[in-house]
Amino acid sequence: MSKEVWQPGNMLYPIPAVMVSCGRKDEKPNIITVAWAGNICSSPAMLSISVRKDRFSHSIIKDTGEFVVNLTSAELARATDWCGVRSGRDYDKFREMKLTPQESQKVSAPGIAESPVNIECKVKQVLELGSHDMFVAEVVCVTVDDKYLDEKGRFDLNGADLIAYSHGEYFKLGKKVGKFGYSVAKKQGKHKPDKKAKHSPETGSKRVKAKKKKSK
Ligand SMILES: Cc1cc2nc3c(=O)[nH]c(=O)nc-3n(C[C@H](O)[C@H](O)[C@H](O)COP(=O)(O)O)c2cc1C
Repeated sequence: MSKEVWQPGNMLYPIPAVMVSCGRKDEKPNIITVAWAGNICSSPAMLSISVRKDRFSHSIIKDTGEFVVNLTSAELARATDWCGVRSGRDYDKFREMKLTPQESQKVSAPGIAESPVNIECKVKQVLELGSHDMFVAEVVCVTVDDKYLDEKGRFDLNGADLIAYSHGEYFKLGKKVGKFGYSVAKKQGKHKPDKKAKHSPETGSKRVKAKKKKSK
C-alpha cells in the first residue's frame, strides 16, 4: 500500500449539509447551508456550526443568539445547494425555494417545515477560529415530521431519505451495513445488543409529548 502526503486540509467526510434558518424580529428570515456542523455534547445536547464572518447569516445569528438546524433530504438537495450559493442579502430564500417558515417552539427563528427534523438552538459561545466563527449552541427543542413515526411512536429517521455531503458532492444515504453495537451482539436467535453498548448517548434525541404547532 502506498499513500500520498497532502497539505493539512478539511478532509473529514462524509458530513451533513444542513440548512440553518435564522432571523431577526420583523425581518424576513434567512437560510444558510452549512456543512461545518456537528454534534458536540450529549448532556446537555449541544451542536456547533461554523460560519464565515462575511455571510449575511453570521451577523443575524450573532445578534439573535439563535438558529434552527434543519436536516436535509434528497427532495431538499436542490434547495440545500441553492441556499449555499446565494445570499440572503439578495434573495428571500424561503420564497425562492418555495420553503415554508415554521414557527419554532423555543426560539424566535423559524424552522423549515419541509425538513424532516428541526433542531432549535441557542448560542452559548462564539469561538473565533480563523476563517470561521464557531457557534457553540445548546439544543433547546427538536421537532420531527410525524410522517416518519410508526404506530408505536418510533421515529424512522433513516427512512427520511437524508443526504450527506462528501468532497463537494451530495449523496443519498445508501444501504445499511450495521447498527449500533452489532459488532459485539450475540448471535443466538435474534440479534441482541451488548449490554455495555445498549445505552449509547450517541444515538439521538428523546421523544416528548410536546404540543405540535402548525406551520405558518
Ligand atoms: C454544501 C455547502 C456547504 C456549506 N457550508 C458552509 C459552512 O459550513 N459555513 C459557511 O460559512 N458557509 C458554508 N457554505 C456557504 C454558504 O452557505 C453560502 O456562502 C451562502 O450563500 C451564505 O448565505 P447568506 O449570505 O445568506 O448567509 C456552504 C455552501 C454549500 C453549498
